[in-house]
Amino acid sequence: MRKKIYKILVTGGAGFIGSEFVRQAVKQGHQMVVVDKLTYAGDLARLKSVQGKFVFYKTDIADLQKVMIILKKERPRAIVHFAAESHVDRSILDASEFVYTNIGGTQQLLTASREMGIKRFIHVSTDEVYGEISRGKFKEHFPLNPNSPYSASKASADFLVKAYIHTFGFPAIIVRPSNNYGPWQFPEKFIPVIIYKAIKNQKIPVYAKGLNVREWLHISDCARAVLATLELGQEGEIYNIGSALECKNITLVKMILKILARSQHLITFVKDRPGHDFRYALDSHKIQNNLFWKPHVDFEEGIFQTVQWYQENFTWLERKVKFLENYWKQIYKPTHEGER
Ligand SMILES: NC(=O)c1ccc[n+]([C@@H]2O[C@H](COP(=O)([O-])OP(=O)(O)OC[C@H]3O[C@@H](n4cnc5c(N)ncnc54)[C@H](O)[C@@H]3O)[C@@H](O)[C@H]2O)c1
Repeated sequence: MRKKIYKILVTGGAGFIGSEFVRQAVKQGHQMVVVDKLTYAGDLARLKSVQGKFVFYKTDIADLQKVMIILKKERPRAIVHFAAESHVDRSILDASEFVYTNIGGTQQLLTASREMGIKRFIHVSTDEVYGEISRGKFKEHFPLNPNSPYSASKASADFLVKAYIHTFGFPAIIVRPSNNYGPWQFPEKFIPVIIYKAIKNQKIPVYAKGLNVREWLHISDCARAVLATLELGQEGEIYNIGSALECKNITLVKMILKILARSQHLITFVKDRPGHDFRYALDSHKIQNNLFWKPHVDFEEGIFQTVQWYQENFTWLERKVKFLENYWKQIYKPTHEGER
């Protein structure tokens, strides 16, 4: 069967996961339009390997007029919506940007997409909308119980998308990935923070006793799953995207220290994040059985390669760390960076 080629508009395509999606979609031959506000988290360097193979608009998704102009000009068949404020710790300090982009921006994008008759809309949500679970795994029909301002804003966006599906028959699909890791992640997130501090032989802050559990998914597996929902997903459905690979934060820190041959004495336990969810775990049978997706990257190998990537791209990593230090100095003094 010949593969269908689409014109796809990606929001947040200069971000960590969005850029991997763009890189993969370009390889598949899709025509790509990237819309990104280039906040502190966005960086076009992530797309340098596909330079010249996508159209770029530096635009705020909450600006309805500008989004309409782009949609009228580009006429994409599908929209994949990654753009968001994504750092939990920052949402705890100030949720206003999270409400603005994750809720307001999504609503404006939905309005524009409906008006323009977009044929398929993939809304990238998160496992965090379910809240925490001590035993078992979240299935797609479970009630949403978000605990942080970040996850509350993402859950609100999910409800908006669901309402558009129900009220207007809007052709949307919601995906809920677990914690992603891999190259190009901004060093306010857990894994690049650990790697940076370990390379520099600095103390590594770990919340509480580091027993919180996360399900780690490599970005290449996540982006491939999003492509699968775009091509084969059922309108109106929700798909969890998880690796089933659960790991305690402390175990992950020790793995990275071992790869970098650094002492475990660098680990420093710090006061827990307020409202810190203890464990997330997804049941991903639906996407595996219906869309024939499964994760390919072995966790240990994936972490090893990720550490190697940050070592090889240390200049980028350090530039981002320095940028962050200056950028947030005026706003707040971070005590620790969370795992997402
Ligand atoms: N990183 C994870 O582990 C993870 C896990 C599950 C779900 N998600 C979701 O996946 C999506 C992407 O996450 P990420 O880690 O790549 O985030 P990221 O912070 O790396 O990237 C977000 C991108 O969105 C852009 N952006 C922010 N506000 C915008 C606005 N108003 N208009 C246009 N662009 C804007 C930023 O410039 C950036 O390029 C998010 O929706 C996030 O909630 C992330």
